[in-house]
Amino acid sequence: MAKAQVKTRKRVADHGEVFTNAREVNAMLDLVKDQCDRLEATFLEPACGDGNFLIEILNRKLLLLSRYKRNADLYNPKLIVAVSSIYGVELLEDNAKDCRKRLYNRVVEAYPKYLKSSKEYPELLKTIDFILKKNIICGNALDYTKADGSPIIFYQWQFINTVKVKIRCFDFEVVAQSSKQTTMFDEYNQPQQISTHNQEFKPIHYLKLYTYAD
Ligand SMILES: C[S@@+](CC[C@H](N)C(=O)[O-])C[C@H]1O[C@@H](n2cnc3c(N)ncnc32)[C@H](O)[C@@H]1O
Repeated sequence: MAKAQVKTRKRVADHGEVFTNAREVNAMLDLVKDQCDRLEATFLEPACGDGNFLIEILNRKLLLLSRYKRNADLYNPKLIVAVSSIYGVELLEDNAKDCRKRLYNRVVEAYPKYLKSSKEYPELLKTIDFILKKNIICGNALDYTKADGSPIIFYQWQFINTVKVKIRCFDFEVVAQSSKQTTMFDEYNQPQQISTHNQEFKPIHYLKLYTYAD
């Protein structure tokens, strides 16, 4: 059965909440097919709802991962690249939560198709859960703030070698105002001339990302 496009009339009136169906989502993603075919290409949906666009973007990235099947040393870090390059902002907490859950469940569902087992799996899932909590933000994309009034900060997760990841932080407001590009990061995964926060983080093993505390 197709997913409902409207939850309540009040939510439509108050928040313009009308969900896009999968056929339209895929037709729109086909317009940026070159980006969808790059594992590390970043996507930000500033009114992501429960993730109708982000889930299809993840589906496409997971298909790209099939080339690493049966090799946990390659598949696992590439899975982190895929998930960590997907960003969303959503005003309503229930939608933001559902969006994270959908993306997480999709990863869990796809994993056994590519790998029988991996001893890193429990830590991998904790890391994915952690990244989704950072990347899918409940906030207002018009004034760039979270519900508590603090600024929305995005994290860039960049592999500096096969296992270590460097984290950098960006103010959503600065990203939005200084970049007219469709991606936050360029084709080499470098920020588009955007100043970072002053915080410096030591590179960390990708399976330990969930231990990082800010
Ligand atoms: C038309 S729906 C689209 C949802 C999703 N992108 C889709 O296509 O299925 C718009 C979404 O934007 C959210 N929204 C409305 N104003 C917002 C704002 N200022 N910042 C972030 N999200 C907002 C609503 O809660 C709603 O989930």
